[in-house]
Amino acid sequence: MSKLVAYFSAEAGRTAKAAKALAQKTGADLFEIRPEKPYSPSDLMYMNPLARCNREKIGKKDVPVAEKVKDWDSYDTIYLGFPIWYYGAPNVIQTFCKGYDWTGKQVYLFATSGGSGIGKTQEKLEPYMKGAMIKDARRIGSMEELKSWV
Ligand SMILES: Cc1cc2nc3c(=O)[nH]c(=O)nc-3n(C[C@H](O)[C@H](O)[C@H](O)COP(=O)(O)O)c2cc1C
Repeated sequence: MSKLVAYFSAEAGRTAKAAKALAQKTGADLFEIRPEKPYSPSDLMYMNPLARCNREKIGKKDVPVAEKVKDWDSYDTIYLGFPIWYYGAPNVIQTFCKGYDWTGKQVYLFATSGGSGIGKTQEKLEPYMKGAMIKDARRIGSMEELKSWV
């Protein structure tokens, strides 16, 4: 059985950087969670009440994912990474989670953020990951933290 690092990263590539380092250190495959419609810089301007990110958040909208993981069943361990948006996981992560059978998967959640902790992210995602064994959930603040976590 094998490991997968699945990640979403939008703003500055911070989560992508952590995900790539994690995949390298653990020997896991790497999968980028890409929304069907990529985020432009103005989509992410949360100071603008009408920005896409705010509309999706307020509307609790699903955000369709462009591509599915191949051979999902072959993975027993999933590292799922994302930036913290509004103290939780971006909606696209919920949509991603809904697309798979999580039964028996060992899951590690990791996030980057501007300062917020991982908060209740795990509890909020659990309904969409039925059957998963979530082993840990943490904010990765630096490459050193990532190394010690691994
Ligand atoms: C829509 C949106 C909401 C955000 N909400 C938070 C937040 O609640 N707390 C926080 O510390 N950072 C927040 N951030 C900052 C990101 O979590 C941070 O910049 C992250 O490291 C970006 O990762 P990325 O470059 O992989 O996209 C938010 C950013 C965006 C675009």
